[in-house]
Amino acid sequence: MTQHIDAAAFDTGKADAFLDRVAGLVNDGAIAVMVGLGHRTGLFDTLAGMPLATSTELAEEAALAERYVREWLAVMVTARIVAFDPTRGTYSLPAEHAASLTRGASLGNLAVYAQHVGLLGQVQERLLTCFETGEGMSYDDYPCFHHLMAEDSAMTVTAGLFDHILPLVPGIDLRLEGGIDVLDAGCGQGHALIALAARYPRSRFVGYDLSGEAISHAAEVARRAGLENLTFETRDLTGYDERERFDFIASFDAVHDQKDPAGLIRGLKGALKPGGVYLMQDIGGSARLENNLDFPMASFLYAISCAHCTPVSLGQGGEGLGTMWGWETAERMLRDAGFTDVSRRVLPHDPMNVWFVASE
Ligand SMILES: C[S@@+](CC[C@H](N)C(=O)[O-])C[C@H]1O[C@@H](n2cnc3c(N)ncnc32)[C@H](O)[C@@H]1O
Repeated sequence: MTQHIDAAAFDTGKADAFLDRVAGLVNDGAIAVMVGLGHRTGLFDTLAGMPLATSTELAEEAALAERYVREWLAVMVTARIVAFDPTRGTYSLPAEHAASLTRGASLGNLAVYAQHVGLLGQVQERLLTCFETGEGMSYDDYPCFHHLMAEDSAMTVTAGLFDHILPLVPGIDLRLEGGIDVLDAGCGQGHALIALAARYPRSRFVGYDLSGEAISHAAEVARRAGLENLTFETRDLTGYDERERFDFIASFDAVHDQKDPAGLIRGLKGALKPGGVYLMQDIGGSARLENNLDFPMASFLYAISCAHCTPVSLGQGGEGLGTMWGWETAERMLRDAGFTDVSRRVLPHDPMNVWFVASE
């Protein structure tokens, strides 16, 4: 195919600037994969705990192979993430960088999200076929997905659960203390539900998820914690139709990539007892592409959508709404399901997500 170029209108300065941008993003994409690896290997945490280290000292401390650690360090130094003293051959992680790259980091650990970039690469070949055939994918096609997702929601959900998230639901703390029935729909590895069950021993908690692997992990963690007010069940929520069983239902980032999000929300409404409340966290972008140009990490979220959320919904025979299905779509589905009182909030610690509280 030949490309049509209007030589008179061609802006060389603009083309050169764009070329620089493309080169920069290829460089940054490679760095992002290595940042994810730095998290998985524990190299950021180890380096943060050492004021200065040679590659040999760091490799020893992290119990990793020095040759690989040295090459990873070269990426980090040229990316201006790790500082290097060439006279001593030592490396260090500035405290200001550790603040967003280490476990328990004060600003939130963005290296957790960088792992998604590596995951996109892992499914690239399979995705190419999907582009050609239109077919979907299964959660099993994504290595470590549930572990990665649990790390992600540990920051956006579990960390803020008691101080920021439960207060969105008026009176829920007292009701949980008194003893109510609670469902987490699409609970994944269930860490939020486990934290709730530990905090509120008089309430009874149920977690459903399609993934047997995620549910086994959740059940094992609950068993080790000795929690008896909590059960997990592998369950496909497509066509979910329990009636008036729960006082409080939550879903954390678990609606848009299902087979039938509208049907699920209707099912959850039916599963609430009179006076029950549904709390839904989902991605907070708009349904309109043009509104998302300045949405935080919009391109990243659309990339996750293209490589994960859309294919897993299509793979279930679903609509493939995508990650950026939009708060407008979510709100409409809540109202169509019969919720008459619907509020929407974005929390400061988590600008990518929106929280709906729906009742009546
Ligand atoms: C993005 S993950 C979120 C998991 C968890 N809520 C968290 O915050 O870590 C979405 C979850 O929805 C589950 N899911 C997708 N389709 C489902 C279905 N049809 N029935 C039940 N669970 C489903 C997936 O297995 C996955 O664990």
